Amino acid sequence: MPDLSIAVFASGGGTNLQSLIDASKKDVLGGRISAVISNNSGAYALERAGNAGIATYHISEKKFPEKERFVGELLRTLENHEVNLIVLAGYMKLLPVEVVRKYRNRILNIHPALLPKYGGKGMYGMNVHKAVIESGDRISGATVHFVDEIFDHGVILIQRTVPIAPDDDPDSLAAKVLEVEHKILPAAVSMFE
Ligand code: GRF
Repeated sequence: MPDLSIAVFASGGGTNLQSLIDASKKDVLGGRISAVISNNSGAYALERAGNAGIATYHISEKKFPEKERFVGELLRTLENHEVNLIVLAGYMKLLPVEVVRKYRNRILNIHPALLPKYGGKGMYGMNVHKAVIESGDRISGATVHFVDEIFDHGVILIQRTVPIAPDDDPDSLAAKVLEVEHKILPAAVSMFE
């Protein structure tokens, strides 16, 4: 059984990354996080990875303006760590098509809503929870899905619902959904071998 070598892409605070690190430490993730890649050199996710002794990389189109160089950096980093599962944990960019094609069906994303509703370009972070609250929906939740060439479009792997209380606002809903994210993302990763 090939050892699961996981690369996590994150752009922000990295609480989903932290849930994966914690699961790995408890040996319930089913693999090791070999690298954390961010487009944002100031992402706290990189700090979390460093604290856990995980290799970190700042790879962005700003840092590598030539597309071929940017894609090459990503592919070289993934190959160097013999990555066989990619997890997007709050990664705000669309993966280059070359990466999606090379790792097809081995890339997961966590989204803070019940896809296919409230997904697609511009639907991230608080935008999602504001739209859900404004809609009057009585439930929201989180989704882990396979990544393809379109934002939030790939086959769904796991979803879990969150009831919306009458006094919920986008912030309180975001907190409830994030708690669920931290449960279903490690569960989804542990399905792979
Ligand atoms: C999460 O809500 C996730 O669903 C979305 O971005 C957020 C990342 O949060 N893709 P964190 O950086 O993992 O705390």
